[in-house]
Amino acid sequence: MDYALLEDTLVLATRRVGIAVYDFDFELHFKCRHPPSFDEGTPCVLRIGAVEDYSRCYSGLLELGLHAVNSPAEYARASELEHWYPLLSDLTPRTRVFDALPGVEEIESEFAWPIFLKGSRQTNRHNAQLSVIRDREQYAWVAERYRRDPVLSWQRPAVREFVPLQPVAGGIAGKVPASMEFRSFWWQGECLGWGRYWYQAPAYTCGDIEVGLALAGEAARRLAVPFLVVDIAKTVEGRWIVIECNDAQESGYAAASPQAIWRALLERMCEPARLASRG
Ligand SMILES: Nc1ncnc2c1ncn2[C@@H]1O[C@H](COP(=O)(O)OP(=O)(O)O)[C@@H](O)[C@H]1O
Ligand SMILES: [Mg+2]
Repeated sequence: MDYALLEDTLVLATRRVGIAVYDFDFELHFKCRHPPSFDEGTPCVLRIGAVEDYSRCYSGLLELGLHAVNSPAEYARASELEHWYPLLSDLTPRTRVFDALPGVEEIESEFAWPIFLKGSRQTNRHNAQLSVIRDREQYAWVAERYRRDPVLSWQRPAVREFVPLQPVAGGIAGKVPASMEFRSFWWQGECLGWGRYWYQAPAYTCGDIEVGLALAGEAARRLAVPFLVVDIAKTVEGRWIVIECNDAQESGYAAASPQAIWRALLERMCEPARLASRG
């Protein structure tokens, strides 16, 4: 892991993961120092991809004097559907998280086909056949695979109401269709930046994006996770909904500008210090 102190304000603990839309060369864009030790309580952001054991990582950083911006409880609230859903149930498709794959009768007692199935953290890389399930037969087929799937099998299954989203051009065969969706980054309830979620698709825009961002802002306020990502989408009916939340430390940028996000974060982190020094 590399530890760089950016603009004498924030430590970035990084490891390259080899994903262009996640990795970012901080040294190219910001003044970086590599001091031998850090002042106690220096804020720290992790950019090491998916964190295997966040609590352990958090404690390890504390021993170096570094204070990860999200606590383990905040990390769980941002990342796990069963943690964030109760706070956002009126802003996002109706969902039930199960301990194990439910029987078909249990699904039919609460949901109508099609359903959207994912793990409490993620789908298998947006695989459409495994997540958009039109009937009993497909569910039986998916259930068989879910139990053996390297991404899904270790996650608690989440069954969600399927909400048709406004389609956009592009998208990738076999994947969930690209829709009018955006990813937004939040720091202490303020938006740092946002961009198209389907960055591989031709550019798309939406006339009332500010309505969507207001919804994402409401989600960020309710979750009260310091460094958060909220994904929003527009339904075919023209309503904005929250698709999911995540810890911003683990999130790819999609089409949002990483430079703008990090600059905005540094500015906001400097503000309290500047105000305090003015007395
Ligand atoms: N309830 C739903 N109804 C319809 N489409 C959905 C629903 N939930 C997610 N999607 C679509 O599937 C995509 C992937 O789902 P998401 O929950 O973001 O999984 P992941 O965590 O793997 O990114 C979303 O970007 C959205 O386009
Ligand atoms: Mg997603």
